[in-house]
Amino acid sequence: MSEFEWSEAMSVGVQALDSDHKCLVRIINLLHGIHDSGEASKTVEMVLDTLMLYGRFHFAREEKVLEACEYPGTTFHKAEHQGFARYITTLRERYGRKADSEMAAELLEYLSGWLRHHILIQDMAFKPYVLGVNRVDEIARAAGPPLLDLQLQ
Ligand SMILES: [Fe+2]
Ligand SMILES: [Fe+2]
Repeated sequence: MSEFEWSEAMSVGVQALDSDHKCLVRIINLLHGIHDSGEASKTVEMVLDTLMLYGRFHFAREEKVLEACEYPGTTFHKAEHQGFARYITTLRERYGRKADSEMAAELLEYLSGWLRHHILIQDMAFKPYVLGVNRVDEIARAAGPPLLDLQLQ
């Protein structure tokens, strides 16, 4: 499994949302190239916890944007986000504290698959709606700066 890469084709037309997506990609990629099982169990736990926190922050931001754009699929989209939170909780129960490097690689594949699909299919569906709204990035940023913009190393 190679690293998950964000590409321009994944841009949803709102800079703060793209930055969040890049950040989620980076969090997931921390699972890449783990060979030691001690490292695997700690990293898996940290990645799942961070994804849950940053995922919630991102979803709240994105849902504000969807409401501002009067996106007709908002209710369904929110349910998809809630499904992700449940999915992470299940993975946390299954893998937390007992993951080895093979499980880390498996998890990298699952999480990359979910996020890629969600961005390319579900998030992309609202792109035409955000393009018509003024100051949409400002609306998105009202939730706080995307972590990626803080230039943390
Ligand atoms: Fe979304
Ligand atoms: Fe998103």
